Amino acid sequence: MPKNSPQPLRVDLRASVGRPMPEAPGPRLPCGVVQIAPEIRLCQVDIQVLARDWWGDFLLADLRRPARGLSPAAPIDAWLAPVEQKVLERFKSFKRQVEWLAGRLAVKTLAGACLDPDLPPTAVTVSHEPDGAPVLPAFPRRCISITHGGRFAVAALSLDTAQAIGIDIERMPLPAGEAFLRLAFSQRERAVLDPVDQLALARAWTLKEAYLKYIRRGFHRNLQGVEFLDGKLLDGGREAPVRWTFGAPDPDHLLAVLFGPR
Ligand SMILES: CC(C)(COP(=O)(O)OP(=O)(O)OC[C@H]1O[C@@H](n2cnc3c(N)ncnc32)[C@H](O)[C@@H]1OP(=O)(O)O)[C@@H](O)C(=O)NCCC(=O)NCCS
Repeated sequence: MPKNSPQPLRVDLRASVGRPMPEAPGPRLPCGVVQIAPEIRLCQVDIQVLARDWWGDFLLADLRRPARGLSPAAPIDAWLAPVEQKVLERFKSFKRQVEWLAGRLAVKTLAGACLDPDLPPTAVTVSHEPDGAPVLPAFPRRCISITHGGRFAVAALSLDTAQAIGIDIERMPLPAGEAFLRLAFSQRERAVLDPVDQLALARAWTLKEAYLKYIRRGFHRNLQGVEFLDGKLLDGGREAPVRWTFGAPDPDHLLAVLFGPR
C-alpha cells in the first residue's frame, strides 16, 4: 500500500476524461467526469445550475423552499426511470429534490461515461444497503459513493472491483461550535485540532465522513472510534489501509475522496 503523502494531491475538478456524456434533449447537464486516481472517476453537478435548468428556479443562493414541479423543458424522461420520477415528486423540500436529482445524474453520467455507454441513463438506478450505502443494481460489483453539500453534488465510482470508495463534500466554514466539535471528534483529536483553522477542521471532518461511507456504515459507526490523527486515519486505534485526497470545486467547498481495499 503506497503511503499517503502529507500534502494532498492537487485535483483539477474541471479537467475532463472518459467518453462524452449521454446526449439528452433539453438543457445540458452542469457536470463533467474527472479522473482522481487511476481507477477512480468523479462526477460533480452544480445544483444551483440544475435548479435553474430543470425547475426554472433563479433564486440560486438558498434552495430552502417547498418542493415543486419540474419545468416542461427538463429532460426527465431521458434521465429518470418512472420509479425515480415518483421519488422526485415525493420529496417535501426543494433543496432535497435538487440534491437527490443531482446525485442521481452524477451517478448516471459516470455509468454512461465509464461503464457502459450503450446503457440508457434510465436503466442506471441506485438502491441502498440496510445502513444506507448506495449500490448500482446494474453493476453490483462496482463501488459508488454519493455526497451533497452546499452548491455541489458529487458521485464517485471505482473501476477496480477490489477497491471501495467513500466521498464527502462540505461547504466551509463548518459549524465549529463546541457541540459540533464534541460530536465530531474524539478527545485526542480535539487536543490537537485548532478550532479556528477552518481548513484543518474541514479536512478532518470530510475525511472521517468519507471513511464512514467507505466502510458502508455511515453514522451507524461510532464517530469517536474513527480518528484522523498525525496524518493517519485510525479505526478503533489501528491505522486503516486507505488512501485519500482532497479537491475543491470552488474556494468555499472541500471534497474528501478516500479509497482502499474492499
Ligand atoms: C451518510 C452519512 C454518513 C453522511 O451524510 P451527510 O453528510 O448528511 O450527507 P451526504 O450528502 O454527504 O451523503 C449522503 C449520501 O450518503 C450515502 N450514504 C448513506 N448512508 C451510507 C452508508 N451507510 N455508507 C455509505 N454511503 C452512505 C447515500 O448515497 C446518500 O445519498 P442519497 O441518499 O442521495 O443516496 C449519514 O447521513 C448517514 O450515516 N446516514 C445513514 C444513517 C441515518 O440516516 N442516520 C440518521 C441520522 S443519525
